[in-house]
Amino acid sequence: MRLFNTCFKYSLQYCQVRHLLRTTTVSKNLCAARCLANLPDDGNIGRVQGRFSGSLPGIRLLSTSSRAKFSKHDLNEERQDDVVVTAMSDHIVINENGISEKNVSGMWLRDHCRCQECFSESRYQNLYDLSKVKTKPTIAKLEKKGKSIHVDWNDGHISVYNIDYLLSLLDNKPIRYPNRRLWNAEKLTSEIADVSFQEYMNETEGLAECLRNLYTYGIAFIDNVPLTKEDFLALSERICFLRECEHGKDNIVISSKEKMYEDIAYTNQSLGFHTDSAYSVEPLGYLTFHLFEHTGEGGLGCYVDGFHVAEMIRKCNPDAYRILSEVLVKQEFIDKHVHYKGKYPVFTIRDNEVKIIRYQTTDRISVQHLSLEETEQFYDAIRLFNKIIYSPENEFWIKYNPGRVVIFDNFRLLHGRSVFTGTRVIRNTVLPRDEVDSRIRKLTGLG
Ligand SMILES: [Fe+2]
Ligand SMILES: [Zn+2]
Repeated sequence: MRLFNTCFKYSLQYCQVRHLLRTTTVSKNLCAARCLANLPDDGNIGRVQGRFSGSLPGIRLLSTSSRAKFSKHDLNEERQDDVVVTAMSDHIVINENGISEKNVSGMWLRDHCRCQECFSESRYQNLYDLSKVKTKPTIAKLEKKGKSIHVDWNDGHISVYNIDYLLSLLDNKPIRYPNRRLWNAEKLTSEIADVSFQEYMNETEGLAECLRNLYTYGIAFIDNVPLTKEDFLALSERICFLRECEHGKDNIVISSKEKMYEDIAYTNQSLGFHTDSAYSVEPLGYLTFHLFEHTGEGGLGCYVDGFHVAEMIRKCNPDAYRILSEVLVKQEFIDKHVHYKGKYPVFTIRDNEVKIIRYQTTDRISVQHLSLEETEQFYDAIRLFNKIIYSPENEFWIKYNPGRVVIFDNFRLLHGRSVFTGTRVIRNTVLPRDEVDSRIRKLTGLG
């Protein structure tokens, strides 16, 4: 619910930034450009080769033109199976099956040394300090032994790399949505099952099953939950600490004359598909809903798998997919005490897949200025997006029942509800993204 945006505490995700830095893949073009910039031309190649040749087996230095003459039977190649590794002074080239070729920066390679001197296994932290690297490391010698590459650096350090590990880091087109099940309503209905409150609270496997559902489908259900605030909070905190709002740990959405906020969420009107806090640099991670009371009719919940929708768009209209991932949409929320705003695309894409969907039409103020053609394309893409999220086969409708808690991924699913009568009381909590994802990894190995 939008109300939750008022007072959440979030901090800069230092560990995320660090992880990204640690695992950043090397752009082939960037490497190639660096290679061309740093390698001498034919006129100088002899001088450099002279510096390395003879006593330095395993190294191969190529100029731009001599690279074209490169033969796979060259003595300086290190080959095993179908992987050939060739060393230059400041980078290596890994060729798989004679087809795929990856240029790997020497600096990057040095930074990813995992020897005891450079990396602490026990703390899982880098010990190689980039602030102390005054000059770019160069490769003095390279040898491939089985599945390992042994590199002697000009500063005397020796690194050993497992080729499969290196290739996994360099894979910049990973499989989309591994271990996720992208769903339409029929698939979700047939595949997902509730976890009982007793199992969830008392057994590790019960909690793990819930988290597995949350990762796999972006949604999980817990039934037989007692109707008390304490039990609801205990259920939420069983996963991790909560992201608080100004009222405390849980939010009560009451649709009655005494409603607390002038927000459409607190009326009995229907709510179209949206994600919460789309304006935020860190949208609400996971949300729980628990209906405590409803005196009237209607008010069904509706969910759609945004990742499934994105994949449908990517396959049927790549241009629309690109537009939804590039055009910035300004979102803004202004209340008595707060003013939030942000500009983000509908799809935030990393690692070749959508990571966050931000879509809240009621908070959408404007779209960045575009050319006439681009503007038309953007609205065409939005129409396609809406056509797919509002397809009956994709809409998963549920009747909220007291005692049945829904937990869902606000980065992945869009949610909405139908119009209703009477007074309706829903409690909800917000679970911070990183904490839930961390629990999912620890308890299920997913993610
Ligand atoms: Fe919402
Ligand atoms: Zn090392």
